[in-house]
Amino acid sequence: MTISNAIEFKDVTFTYPESKAPVLKKINFKVKKGSWTALIGHNGSGKSTISKLINGLLLPDKDSGSVITVSGMNLNSENVWDIREKVGIVFQNPDNQFVGATVGDDVAFGLENRGVPRDQMVQTVKKVLSDVGMLDYIDAEPANLSGGQKQRVAIAGILAVEPEIIILDESTSMLDPSGRDQILKIIKRLMSEKNLTILSITHDIDEADMADNVIVLNDGKILAQASPTEIFSQTEMPRQIGLDIPFVDKLIYKLNQLGITIPKDVQTKDELKQYLCQLNSKK
Ligand SMILES: Nc1ncnc2c1ncn2[C@@H]1O[C@H](COP(=O)(O)OP(=O)(O)OP(=O)(O)O)[C@@H](O)[C@H]1O
Ligand SMILES: [Mg+2]
Repeated sequence: MTISNAIEFKDVTFTYPESKAPVLKKINFKVKKGSWTALIGHNGSGKSTISKLINGLLLPDKDSGSVITVSGMNLNSENVWDIREKVGIVFQNPDNQFVGATVGDDVAFGLENRGVPRDQMVQTVKKVLSDVGMLDYIDAEPANLSGGQKQRVAIAGILAVEPEIIILDESTSMLDPSGRDQILKIIKRLMSEKNLTILSITHDIDEADMADNVIVLNDGKILAQASPTEIFSQTEMPRQIGLDIPFVDKLIYKLNQLGITIPKDVQTKDELKQYLCQLNSKK
């Protein structure tokens, strides 16, 4: 049987020891294997808590009936290490992710921990650094890299241990637009080359718009899970909870409000331009 979901949450409830009420309340969602899923929601809605639950850094409330499945395994205290092998997380701050004195050492760290023989380790480090376009920096000190370069090295470190799932937790939010675009392009390419599943936690609405699927989290509850088009141009919900929406969807929404009905298959900027031009030429 092939497993079609990389991640599945069933009725997951989580409370921090310090908090009075649960921060996640019986949440349910699925991330399809090989998909790019974006998780969006306000500050404090519980996004990072979800990412830490996926790799067992946090465990759901006891006796709450919560079930977390990752790569077909029901996460529990026995298989949490197997699951961590399959899930890599790239965090927000590139400076907090380094352990090695050089880029090469840093990427080798996870392999050293796993007792990979030296020859094989050197090969793998070179391969993954070239995957993210950072092979020329193998002997550089991490501190001297730009933010975008640091995040590329962090991604290489994760690729070295061949994960199935990569979680990007606001990984591009501290980068300039070109650094951000580079990271997203690299991730897109790696995703198809290595059959990865991507969960991208983001405030960047254009990044969410690139996803196959969007999950909207609000105050510890899932409000919706659907395609970006369905979420952003066909429902009132993101506007009602005050989330930003992509420019093209704002435009389609306004045009619809003005009585210019835009068909549902018109989704991108180019498709909209083309549709409006042919509408104009019919007049
Ligand atoms: N270690 C902790 N102890 C107690 N409460 C916490 C802890 N970490 C987070 N929280 C609380 O849990 C809730 C969810 O936090 P979380 O970090 O998951 O949100 P988030 O959606 O990732 O937010 P952001 O967009 O700011 O990163 C918040 O109310 C936060 O204050
Ligand atoms: Mg967060």
